[in-house]
Amino acid sequence: MGKPLKTVVTYGTFDLFHVGHVRLLKRLRGLGDRLIVGCSTDEFNEKKGKRTVMPYAQREELLLGCRYVDDVFPEKNWEQKRSDITKYKVDIFAIGDDWSGHFDSLQDICEVMYLPRTSGISSTDVKKLVVSRFKNELVSIATELQNVEKRLRSLTEIE
Ligand code: CTP
Repeated sequence: MGKPLKTVVTYGTFDLFHVGHVRLLKRLRGLGDRLIVGCSTDEFNEKKGKRTVMPYAQREELLLGCRYVDDVFPEKNWEQKRSDITKYKVDIFAIGDDWSGHFDSLQDICEVMYLPRTSGISSTDVKKLVVSRFKNELVSIATELQNVEKRLRSLTEIE
């Protein structure tokens, strides 16, 4: 009989899929043979006070499209982790170190690990970047319009 497969599980929202997510998923997949991801549903995010840009179906599809992810299931509440770990025969629960210590109580049923986050990027940062980029464009359009108005005014004054 061959060696049993090692299953790794992680949880998260994964909105606006970015390089911090990919790097974490790559490292997680490297810890075992199968990586499954509990992706927070829109209803659960609402309870957490988290507003996403992408709905659950798209966040799930993006995760499934990532080569390091073998399967995705919905994370609907804080309490389901224990039963998920038993149901999916999980060996390792691992998550970014912004959650350090939070899930130590699961150590009686699997290994619990916290991996370093990629610095300088988050879904929140991406949202802010898009907003500031959009703002800058609006400001330059407004300035351009003011200049056109000034030029028109000076032309009518000359007449
Ligand atoms: N993560 C990471 N490096 C980052 C951002 C996130 O390793 N730069 C990890 C988190 O630690 C977590 C997983 O990716 O284990 C999913 O995190 P999520 O909260 O969905 O992503 P964030 O970008 O942190 O989102 P937000 O800004 O909304 O908190």
